[in-house]
Amino acid sequence: MTEKRIIMFNTNTIDKFQQLDTPFYYYDLGILDKTLTACKTAADKYGFHVHYAMKANFNPKVLDRIQAHGFGADCVSGNEVKAAIEHGFDKKSVVFAGVGKSDKEINLALDADIFCFNAESVQELFIINDLAKAKDKVANIAIRINPNVDAHTHHFITTGLDENKFGINIWQLPDVADALRKCSNLQFLGIHFHIGSQITDMEVYKSLCTRINEMQDWFTDHGFTVKVLNTGGGLGVDYHNPDTNSISDFESYFKVFKDFLAIKPGQEVHFELGRALVAQSAALISRVLYVKNGLKKNFLVLDAGMTELIRPMLYQAYHEIENLSRKSKVQSSKSDQAHDLKYDVVGPICESTDCFRKDVDLPESFRGDLIAIRTAGAYAEVMASGYNLRDKVQSIYSE
Ligand code: LLP
Repeated sequence: MTEKRIIMFNTNTIDKFQQLDTPFYYYDLGILDKTLTACKTAADKYGFHVHYAMKANFNPKVLDRIQAHGFGADCVSGNEVKAAIEHGFDKKSVVFAGVGKSDKEINLALDADIFCFNAESVQELFIINDLAKAKDKVANIAIRINPNVDAHTHHFITTGLDENKFGINIWQLPDVADALRKCSNLQFLGIHFHIGSQITDMEVYKSLCTRINEMQDWFTDHGFTVKVLNTGGGLGVDYHNPDTNSISDFESYFKVFKDFLAIKPGQEVHFELGRALVAQSAALISRVLYVKNGLKKNFLVLDAGMTELIRPMLYQAYHEIENLSRKSKVQSSKSDQAHDLKYDVVGPICESTDCFRKDVDLPESFRGDLIAIRTAGAYAEVMASGYNLRDKVQSIYSE
């Protein structure tokens, strides 16, 4: 069993933070390594291939670590394909998805001889074929199918329903087969799915397996050899318990696919995990600028806001918020913290939505206190913006 309890901050770390300008992202590379090892070990048990979904975090140090653990790369832009190769990911481990790949991006990926394009429309198939023909190349293709499986996650991060823009709907498969037969510069490799993100209910993946099995039968019945089953990503993390449940249950996750996918001899099973590999390994560290005690509300105004971490504002996402200064002076374990007051924890940006969470239980807090916003390794630093002409957020590392 993988160790679940990993504490991110000790007194030394917090003392070090006191010397630094805030806000910044703090990366605990030890947690990252443990998570990557847990995932790789669980996947290797079944010979599964995992491509890291670079969109979750393309911080160079993070990418180097992930590459060193032997993961492939899952990219959604030409620049991600470029960055993957620059960071040493094997080009034959790069997959390229995206509903709107530009000609320039397709050409870049063709020049890089990547493993596979995950094609998201019939029209895209013809475009990749034309561009490959012009280069006298053959492009490997997986068809991204929209399986109409409900991921039971937040509707903003659901991708596999008929109403979503992603992938090719099942009723369009005859057109896909037709296109593949006509396009001599495409090599059909297999089928690809991705139904959403932050999925914690394994039943959802069982339903996905059932649909994948139906889809591979469809292709086989129509004369195609399905070599690759790419199930996408989406495995969730525990945003409420970052210290006591630090590593997602990769063993159970992969076992679902082992048990419920009808894997044929010679077939490869691929995954594209992002969040579960990186989310718990970083926190956003900021300082309290002002404490506003009102009649109805107390506000903690931080020096970090939606420009540094937009998930709470964009997806109503929950992140644990801790006062590290009070914790370091009084005690070291979060469960011992005296929860004196409730605060709306807000940022400095001129938008009402710039609020990390309302009514957060915290010890009485003061100007200058260090605040950690946890589970900020995925879709966090990479979604930072320069709105209000803010400084680019910095990163520091545990080594
Ligand atoms: N494969 C494809 C085709 C994807 O679109 C995604 C994520 C992944 C794999 C990786 O999914 P993961 O394992 O990370 O769940 N910004 C949002 C999440 C957007 C996910 C986009 N696609 C958030 O902060 O929750």
